[in-house]
Amino acid sequence: MKNKKVLVVGGGGRCHAIVDALLRSPQVAEVFCAPGNAGIGAVATNVPIKDTDVPALLAFAKEQAVDLTVVGPEAALAAGIVDAFRAEGLPIFGHTRAATQIESSKGFAKELMEKYGIPTAGYRTFTDYEAARAYVAARPFPAVLKYDGLAAGKGVVVAQTPEEADTALREMLLESKFGEASVIVEDFLTGPEFSFMCFVCGNQVAPMPLSQDHKRAFDGDKGPNTGGMGAYTGLPFITKEDEDFAFHEILCKAAAAMCSEGLPLSGVLYGGLMKTPQGIKVIEFNARFGDPETEVVLPLMESDIYAIFEAVAGGREIPRIIWKNFVTLGVVLASKGYPGGYAKGIEIEGTDTVKAKLFHMGTALKEGKLLTAGGRVMMLVAEGPTIALAREKAYAEIAKIRCDNLFWRNDIAHCALNKAN
Ligand code: AMP
Ligand code: GLY
Repeated sequence: MKNKKVLVVGGGGRCHAIVDALLRSPQVAEVFCAPGNAGIGAVATNVPIKDTDVPALLAFAKEQAVDLTVVGPEAALAAGIVDAFRAEGLPIFGHTRAATQIESSKGFAKELMEKYGIPTAGYRTFTDYEAARAYVAARPFPAVLKYDGLAAGKGVVVAQTPEEADTALREMLLESKFGEASVIVEDFLTGPEFSFMCFVCGNQVAPMPLSQDHKRAFDGDKGPNTGGMGAYTGLPFITKEDEDFAFHEILCKAAAAMCSEGLPLSGVLYGGLMKTPQGIKVIEFNARFGDPETEVVLPLMESDIYAIFEAVAGGREIPRIIWKNFVTLGVVLASKGYPGGYAKGIEIEGTDTVKAKLFHMGTALKEGKLLTAGGRVMMLVAEGPTIALAREKAYAEIAKIRCDNLFWRNDIAHCALNKAN
């Protein structure tokens, strides 16, 4: 019966894709999104509550008698939204604050992987600047330095020279405002990276299609790192054997490890993985859907996503998930200047003629006009029987969008099409 009310917490392209999938469910009657965005507001009801305002979200869920809440961003999980909802008996999809450590604390994640034999880069942890500097100086470059501190961003620096490493270590260990900071110095790994997301409920792990993000701003993987400039599914350089290995030896092992630690997962586990010459290894875990990977993965789901969310939230058996036998390719349209400074409020026209999924990331509606309102503005996702066809379609549809202040990469999926990796 189509009678369920769902609250989605978050507001970017990832949440737009989650809302889009929920609206395809035969059970879902109404979707709220807090805070949502202009694109989400066109298909669901935006609620002006910040995604980390747990008391206000809880009050809203009760007042509206929502059947299920689905959490997008890590910040809300780290703010303890799941713990708060569960304490009041409200169904919610997402991990507890303690389980979210698999993402929020790099030290916790590394120790977990070491203890349970999950393949990852070798590492050492330092809290003392002099000791870290001496260790790094005696090792080959590049050096991978990961900041692991409370209340601050999770910086990763791949330093090419001792000077660069020293600057980063000083910032991380000497100039840190938060005390208790530590730095993980990791072995530098090489190989193509890919994302493997699974629905996890305790020991149950249900895989989603693999995808690949594009972190650099410009074609050819040049320019600064961004929140992701595009993604696609159907990775030709990952074999079925690789995928099976990653599933069993990484994702399932991590889920079991979290159960053994008394911190069972109940949401999405995202493996940021690398296919190195020594096999597949973990670069990082995230405790949530990836962005922009979710925007290319969820359009392929044929099953009822509400049933999956509800099963995970309730600790029941996850239904078998059916995926379309197609691939998807998505291109992010970003404001010129991003990830640096950029103008906002520039009109976007032609979106109503687009025949592909268009997930909004940073847009606003003002007097009936659609305007840019963020660094990453929207993501167009096309599907097709092959990556080449999906890519052709995506760029043909992008050509219909008119805006003076957008740029995008023209080479999404180049690793797949050039067979370079
Ligand atoms: P993370 O935030 O841990 O995902 O790291 C950000 C990016 O830094 C990754 O996507 C990789 O491209 C790079 N990186 C992180 N760890 C390593 C490593 N051990 N070896 C090589 N590159 C790495
Ligand atoms: N695409 C990387 C992330 O979601 O963290």
